[in-house]
Formats: sequence, C-alpha cells, structure tokens
Amino acid sequence: MNVVVVVGNPKPGSRTRQAAEMVTHRLTGNPPVAVVELAELGPALLGSGDPSVEAAKQAVLDAELVVFATPTFKASYTGLLKLFIDQFSAGEMSGTPAVALMLGASPRHALAGEHSLKPVLSEIGCSCPAPALFLLESEWEASPELEAWLARAAPAYGVGGTPRHP
Ligand SMILES: Cc1cc2nc3c(=O)[nH]c(=O)nc-3n(C[C@H](O)[C@H](O)[C@H](O)COP(=O)(O)O)c2cc1C
Repeated sequence: MNVVVVVGNPKPGSRTRQAAEMVTHRLTGNPPVAVVELAELGPALLGSGDPSVEAAKQAVLDAELVVFATPTFKASYTGLLKLFIDQFSAGEMSGTPAVALMLGASPRHALAGEHSLKPVLSEIGCSCPAPALFLLESEWEASPELEAWLARAAPAYGVGGTPRHP
C-alpha cells in the first residue's frame, strides 16, 4: 500500500515523525513509502511552483493513504503544515483517505485534530473515515488511546492493523 507521511514539525526528525511512522506500521503492517519532512522544504512553501514542493505534493497526490502528522501548537496544527495544505486546491485530493495525527503535551487539546486539522483536510478533498488521533508526547509509543484508535481505524480504512508485538 502506498502510504505517504507528511510531517508538519518545524524541527526535522521529531517524535511527531516517529509517531507517524509507527502509526503507519501499526495500521497497515508496512512502513510508509515516503516521508515528506515539511521543515526541509522551508521557505519554498511560501511561494508556488517550487520543484521541491511540487514533488512533495505529487507524492501526496499519488498516495493511497496519507498520514498528516503535526505537533500541537497553540491548540491547533502548525503553520508549517498549513503552508503545505494551502498548496492544494479545494477537492484536489479526490477522496484519498487520510489520517489526522497530532502530538501534544496536554490532554486539554485532545480534540484539536478533530476540530482544526480534519476540516482543512476535508477542504482539500481528503477522506478521514476515523476520528483524528491525538497522542500525548509522554506516551506516544504506547497508550490505551492508541490501541482503541487502531481498533476503530483499521476497519474504517480497510486495513488489517497489527499488534504491538507481532
Ligand atoms: C510553540 C509551541 C506551542 C505549543 N502549544 C501546545 C498546545 O497548545 N497544546 C499542547 O498540548 N502542546 C503544545 N505544545 C507542545 C507540543 O505540541 C509537544 O511538545 C509535541 O509533542 C512536540 O512534538 P515533537 O516532540 O515532535 O517536537 C507546544 C509546543 C510549542 C513549541
């Protein structure tokens, strides 16, 4: 399955990236085919038509499933991720399934993915058949919330899911 991870953390190589790769593996049984580290695109995201941004966008458009992963900044997704999402026209994703994944420090913002990220993914045409996943940074690798989400998301995305210790 062609799964692409998009990481909206201004700091490359983050826990957010690790969590997105882990969720991809737990959900589909395979690692992502590609990881788009938006931090590496930098100022190119401020304009339109930059070749590196176009290549990242094409990888996302070609994916069968996209995991959009972002830390929680000020109760929402990052501005870096918004710059990338703004590169797409309304509906351009044509129904591609997407996972909205957020890491955060506080459970106060556990619904940020549902309230802030999923609506913009829907606007560019993604389909998010399962709830957004919010993981506390202190327990992103293992938590009851992750297991409950996987049990609900695997059938919603039409994939098998894998146990933590196969
Ligand atoms: C500028 C900034 C704003 C943040 N705002 C929030 C917030 O509103 N809610 C929250 O739960 N965590 C907030 N955090 C904490 C991060 O979401 C959290 O540390 C996250 O795990 C960072 O991801 P990383 O480990 O991949 O860098 C904020 C962190 C930064 C740097």
